[in-house]
Amino acid sequence: MLKGKDLLSIHELSADEVQEILALAAELKAKQKAGIEHHLLKGKTLGMIFEKSSTRTRVSFETGMYQLGGQALFLSNRDLQLGRGEPIKDTARVLSRYLDGIMIRTYGHDRAEELARYADIPVINALTDLLHPCQVLTDLLTIREHKGKNLQGLKMAYVGDGNNMTNSFMYGCAKAGMEFVAATPEGYRPDAEVTRQAQEDARATGASITLVTDPLEAVKGADIVVTDTWASMGQEAEHEERKRIFAPYQVNDKLLAHADKRAIVMHCLPAYRGEEITEEVFERFAPVIFDEAENRLHTQKAIMALLMG
Ligand code: CP
Ligand code: NVA
Repeated sequence: MLKGKDLLSIHELSADEVQEILALAAELKAKQKAGIEHHLLKGKTLGMIFEKSSTRTRVSFETGMYQLGGQALFLSNRDLQLGRGEPIKDTARVLSRYLDGIMIRTYGHDRAEELARYADIPVINALTDLLHPCQVLTDLLTIREHKGKNLQGLKMAYVGDGNNMTNSFMYGCAKAGMEFVAATPEGYRPDAEVTRQAQEDARATGASITLVTDPLEAVKGADIVVTDTWASMGQEAEHEERKRIFAPYQVNDKLLAHADKRAIVMHCLPAYRGEEITEEVFERFAPVIFDEAENRLHTQKAIMALLMG
């Protein structure tokens, strides 16, 4: 079903395709833990274009390709001619002659879209200013592990900046039939068009997507509480101002008292303790948060195997 396609946004996946990715991710995770060979991409090469920094994404994609029997090339824009102004559409057509898939982390989502339009091999979005689909698919796998396979009806509360994670959570929760509520300051809501599309997707699955400004209202009875940095990559200059604006949106014990007693807290990392999350809450939920980090590997292996296999 997914063979040969791009993965730029969860919105483009059907609800069944989301489940297919999660099921294969769980299977590949079990195989890797049991030491069972799973060379689904033997002899294949993934190119990884990074125009922004990364710890998890780079290491998990690169290791994932190796574990699938293929290899990955780290292509920083400091080294590529892309960084010196070679058009993205030429880069796409050249790389398509050598590689079996391209992963890109960049700023404008339109750059990833242009790459996909001109490449005739699958392109995977590994974070743009608009979306971070690999992380949210990973988070759905992690929720399955901690809350049971049936995601339908689970309540996720997102507290903080309406950013690329929030946008992707809206798409992901809509496809998974979940109840999603984001609490952000008024001027920091997630993308309006993504919100509209996610609310439309939600109608097909019985999900709901709600935006509020009150963190207590969002967290009330939540099964999953999630946050992300208040200043994403590229917003460093706004960091001090954002710390002031987002102060009431910290995930701390006072806020969590309003969530379900068995609620889990998640964070895609990197985390800024004392800002979006307290040290105590982070460390208490570290087992979940580092499962989430580990699951990048398994989820992306599934994505690559389905798209590039
Ligand atoms: N969560 C995430 O994408 O981490 P990196 O920026 O380290 O890749
Ligand atoms: N919202 C963050 C996510 C980092 C993985 C950013 O874009 O920097």
